[in-house]
Amino acid sequence: MWSTLLLLLLALIHVSVQGPHQRHLLKNLLKDYNRMERPVGNDSHSLTVVFSLSLIQIMDVDEKNQVLTTNIWLRMGWFDHYLQWNQTEYPGVKNLRFTTDQVWTPDILLYNSADDDFDSTFKTNVLVNSSGYAEYLPPGIFMSTCNVDVRWFPFDMQKCELKFGSWTYDGWLLDLQMNEADISGYMPNGEWDLVGVPGTRSEAFYDCCKEPYPDVTFVVTMRRRTLYYALNLLIPCVLLSSMTLLVFVLPADSGEKISLGITVLLSLTVFMLLVAEIMPATSDSIPLIGQYFASIMIIVGASVVATVVVLQYHHHDPNGGTMPKWMQLVLLQWVAWFLRMKRPGESEDPERPPCAPHLRRCSSGSQTNSLPNAPEPALHPLHPGSLAPTVSSGGGFGGALLEEVRYLADRFREQDEAAGTADQWKFAGAVIDRLCLVAFSVFNIICTISILMSAPNFVEAISKDFI
Ligand SMILES: *[C@@H]1O[C@H](CO)[C@@H](O)[C@H](O)[C@H]1NC(C)=O
Ligand SMILES: *[C@@H]1O[C@H](CO)[C@@H](O)[C@H](O)[C@H]1NC(C)=O
Ligand SMILES: *[C@@H]1O[C@H](CO)[C@@H](O)[C@H](O)[C@H]1NC(C)=O
Repeated sequence: MWSTLLLLLLALIHVSVQGPHQRHLLKNLLKDYNRMERPVGNDSHSLTVVFSLSLIQIMDVDEKNQVLTTNIWLRMGWFDHYLQWNQTEYPGVKNLRFTTDQVWTPDILLYNSADDDFDSTFKTNVLVNSSGYAEYLPPGIFMSTCNVDVRWFPFDMQKCELKFGSWTYDGWLLDLQMNEADISGYMPNGEWDLVGVPGTRSEAFYDCCKEPYPDVTFVVTMRRRTLYYALNLLIPCVLLSSMTLLVFVLPADSGEKISLGITVLLSLTVFMLLVAEIMPATSDSIPLIGQYFASIMIIVGASVVATVVVLQYHHHDPNGGTMPKWMQLVLLQWVAWFLRMKRPGESEDPERPPCAPHLRRCSSGSQTNSLPNAPEPALHPLHPGSLAPTVSSGGGFGGALLEEVRYLADRFREQDEAAGTADQWKFAGAVIDRLCLVAFSVFNIICTISILMSAPNFVEAISKDFI
């Protein structure tokens, strides 16, 4: 009975002295604590600080200003010689919290900070356990300089360094050690896939002094997710570039060929502006997408020029002269044969080897082919040769009539020849159109494949983002 009462009393006392223990301990520890003093038992010993970080979020990668913004929790741990206590003397006090104004903390800073106030950490409390082990976990939104290389945009991979080190202590006073970065609490980003945050510890030596200056560098390695840019930049560009080919399919008589080409050129310019807005104004390297846009633009520009030539041929002045012989040979025969194109009215087997259809010696095998550009005299109903024998028997009157008929026939022949020449030019225009269609299709496909596939992690990007 008495023993239980005593136990209850003891328990009550035990509970009631919890507060005073902590108060006594804090008073004793901070009595002659100087937070400017490096907390080591022997001043010639170095203090080991273990450093690591937890990456919480990649907030922004600013390609233009070359700044990476991240949400990071730093983690530092060290033994404070002056913050130890005997747990049996202060029962129940397992650990203590101090503000950074009360105890010593390492002056570790982000060297490549790009923040307005250089150190952007939030000063949290320092947690100390009874053996004097102090843990300090300041979170912060860090803005750091990062050399964003946009050479392979939008199939690029970025490596941004975060270099931490003590600002004033050298390696003999503060031995900075590294722990692996923790990414278990990482929040996925819509634009970037985190590949890893490898860290390295290095020591720098300066001319002035013998002491090493250690630093810890974490490299935030991330891969751009391509889907967004593929949807908003690449697919429209590929569509526009294939639209260029339609310029060569559109009939010349529609009068829209040039305007279609110019419209495509203008739309491409709009997309180029969009890209230029994202990219830094650097001439170090041309981004992949810029290269692609530039080559597509060259294709479109060249197609506009080719269209002008086609239209010039199509609307060629019939009295402007006939086509030079070499052009007839190259365009109307070789190229036309190569492209399997038949001239209007020509029903020949396209397999036939190239020969001049308008030259009589060549078309001897197929007399039925009446070629509009070179009218066969024998087939013309008003040809003087076929009329002369019947009319000439009429004497003087017949002679005048013959003159008249000859004149008419000459006019008809002239008209036919003019129409023939115009047809020849038109056909030449059509041949160039078809030639451009084939050539530009091939060039377009080669351009698209070779430029886009030259990116080092193209396959990885496609397989991860699209499939
Ligand atoms: C401090 O450490 C140095 C080297 O370890 C030693 O020579 C010296 O005696 C130590 N001083 C004290 C006061 O322990
Ligand atoms: C802690 O304090 C108790 C009681 O005063 C004592 O017996 C013990 O030896 C001390 N332990 C250490 C590690 O000093
Ligand atoms: C204090 O923390 C350190 C590091 O976590 C640990 O090694 C040590 O055992 C802890 N001391 C006590 C008394 O829990």
